[in-house]
Amino acid sequence: MNPLAKELNDLIAQHNPHVVEMLSDLGKNIFFPKGILTQSAEAKDKAHKYNATIGIATENGGPMYLKCIQDKLSGFDPKDIFPYAPPAGRPELRSLWREKMLRENPSMQGKHYSNPVVTSALTHGLSIVGDLFVGVDDHVVLPDMLWGNYNLTFGTCNGGVVKKHNTFTATGGYDIEAFRTTLKQTAAEKGKAVVILNFPNNPSGYTPTVAEGDALVAAILDVAKSGCNIVAVTDDAYFGLFYEDSLKESLFGKLANLHPRILAIKLDGATKEEFVWGFRTGFITFANGDTKATPDVLTALEKKTMGIIRAKISNCPHPSQTFVIEALRSPEFPIQKEEKFQVMKGRSLEVKRVLNSGKYDSVWGYYPFNSGYFMCLKLKSLDAEKLRLHLLDKYGVGTISIGKTDLRIAFSCIAKENIQELFDIIFQAAKDLS
Ligand SMILES: Cc1ncc(COP(=O)(O)O)c(C=O)c1O
Repeated sequence: MNPLAKELNDLIAQHNPHVVEMLSDLGKNIFFPKGILTQSAEAKDKAHKYNATIGIATENGGPMYLKCIQDKLSGFDPKDIFPYAPPAGRPELRSLWREKMLRENPSMQGKHYSNPVVTSALTHGLSIVGDLFVGVDDHVVLPDMLWGNYNLTFGTCNGGVVKKHNTFTATGGYDIEAFRTTLKQTAAEKGKAVVILNFPNNPSGYTPTVAEGDALVAAILDVAKSGCNIVAVTDDAYFGLFYEDSLKESLFGKLANLHPRILAIKLDGATKEEFVWGFRTGFITFANGDTKATPDVLTALEKKTMGIIRAKISNCPHPSQTFVIEALRSPEFPIQKEEKFQVMKGRSLEVKRVLNSGKYDSVWGYYPFNSGYFMCLKLKSLDAEKLRLHLLDKYGVGTISIGKTDLRIAFSCIAKENIQELFDIIFQAAKDLS
């Protein structure tokens, strides 16, 4: 093992040995090298005469660039666009995002957590979690209504085993009992489990009630108290898009500093929240269970994260970090966000109005939804994939089939005035087949 990796592991172990136990082999071995980046950073401070360290081209005291590119980006200073961004992301962006998280999640007040490290959006954050904490055969606990990409990241790439629990009870609540039982069993088998809490959920569009959120946290705490290590990850990709009476914060705030055997990790980003999917700007934030020793453990985890970033993608795109900084500083930002929130909320409520008419009850029911981009129909007798193909071939309507019975509808991309027609078409297509 590299001495720098050992140093980080020792630092963590000194303060919270459970966190070292949570790390995968790669997580234990990774470190941030004192290589070119560290030497360049030192030179940035001290090399007043010539700085021949940086791996970009410069001229006239700034980055070299092509005018045909800069002409299209003239609102931005070339230095904020063309050079590499720091490996943990631009410091201004990190502190602006930290302030935003705190503003929007009052339960984070008074908690100790790291500065968010910039990722190339949430998928990259999930992959960092996989690399650091999911070893071969490690258990990852998820609901059976899940974003399919988790299987690829944690299963195929990291060799973890996805353990699914039932998502909803028969009466339409979140199935806390199923979560508790699955977590207890899977954690006990390995002495460790990685839990992914994705609310608003893809594909169901559900966010738990406050009581359900508290019950999820209590279940995690019980398992930690029984002697199992839990890496509790909140995938807050659709954060803020809460349209009804649900939890309106990330569970990260309640999981942070809760128990030495719980490491809370928050993944979030501008992707869906700020409607900038292609920017690829996200964040990973850690909260250790042991409040006394938090800074050291958090610093070591940040360094390990930077090591993974350096090894896999070197650093995240700079222009989009600059664009997000500008947005977060703009007085227009909250006003425009609220406008778009209302559009999305209007669509979600319209879907519910249309479905609650009773018109389609012979063919489908629907899973609970109250947030995010999606909702799912539960077909009573038709095969979801058959219906999907028929909708596409005969009516030119695209949906996503999930398993035998579920059809996911992204109301995020259907105008409110077209929602009635969309469901009428799906109903007609279902009747064609039955
Ligand atoms: C639950 C969930 N997490 C993460 C992501 C990935 O987000 P990003 O585009 O920021 O990588 C998605 C995207 O569909 C998602 O649905």
